[in-house]
Amino acid sequence: MAYNLLKGKKGIIFGALNEQSIAWKVAERAVEEGAEIVLTNTAVAIRMGTLDELAKKTNAKAVIPADATSVEDLENLFKEAMKALGGQIDFVLHSCAMSVNMRKKRTYDDLDYGFLDKTLDISAISFHKMIQVAKKLDAIAEYGSIVALTYVASHRTFFGYNDMADAKALLESITRSFGYIYGREKHVRVNCISQSPTLTTAGGGIKGFDGMLDFADRMSPLGNASADDCADYCMTLFSDLTKKVTMQTLFHDGGFSNMGMSLRGMTQYNKSFIPENTDKETGKIIYG
Ligand SMILES: NC(=O)c1ccc[n+]([C@@H]2O[C@H](COP(=O)([O-])OP(=O)(O)OC[C@H]3O[C@@H](n4cnc5c(N)ncnc54)[C@H](O)[C@@H]3O)[C@@H](O)[C@H]2O)c1
Repeated sequence: MAYNLLKGKKGIIFGALNEQSIAWKVAERAVEEGAEIVLTNTAVAIRMGTLDELAKKTNAKAVIPADATSVEDLENLFKEAMKALGGQIDFVLHSCAMSVNMRKKRTYDDLDYGFLDKTLDISAISFHKMIQVAKKLDAIAEYGSIVALTYVASHRTFFGYNDMADAKALLESITRSFGYIYGREKHVRVNCISQSPTLTTAGGGIKGFDGMLDFADRMSPLGNASADDCADYCMTLFSDLTKKVTMQTLFHDGGFSNMGMSLRGMTQYNKSFIPENTDKETGKIIYG
């Protein structure tokens, strides 16, 4: 259902790779809510993914390649996006992350520091670069809204989340620090959404992802939030209904972040205590 929440607004969406991407769903919803958009991703992702299909579907004003770690690319992106959209930008979604250490199966106690630099640059510092470039170009309209996607492993330890946990902690810190400066000077809002585990290309690359997804779902009273749910939440943050929300990490996780143990979680956990000689289906002891 559409509410015209973004009628007349112009936005840039980073990070749609394929139909599973959270950014893909956000782009579709933003247009449904009346926005005009520009899509961006790396040149390789545009070649390998299906961004052109999304561009057609959403009638995007342009698809502009940009490596989010390159200040030069970002300057070009914001200038070209303002031309294509005919003025200042009202909202931006940062939906970019990558860990080479995870890809190469380097554990947290055996990190390659060159890879760590890349993880931090792509997944966190790119957010600073993006905002700094936008501010210097005065590309964002008064009360504009900038949103990045994060994960609860930024401040609690999750097995297998590796150096991405450090990247998310930095991303959330940039949200606060730049949120203060951009808010004070231009009334631009900067927030992060801390999203449930979601089956996407980036999500699937995390060690033990299926277990994490199931665990979070069992622990959350409302169940995991899907990519579509996340897109809905983004609409509220891009809209004028949240004009005074800034510098926040907002949990969008079905309640997971405030849980300790749930009945569904406990039930599953207790199954691991079933003695070896018990029939797993019936719970009856097998005598021989
Ligand atoms: N999937 C999950 O479980 C989950 C949960 C919480 C937060 N998030 C976050 O959501 C965001 C989007 O991820 P997703 O799950 O939709 O996966 P995805 O793989 O669809 O998206 C990741 C995107 O990052 C882009 N990217 C990588 N390097 C880049 C660079 N140098 N410049 C520009 N773009 C670059 C990729 O091309 C891709 O489009 C990420 O920040 C991720 O950490 C995901």
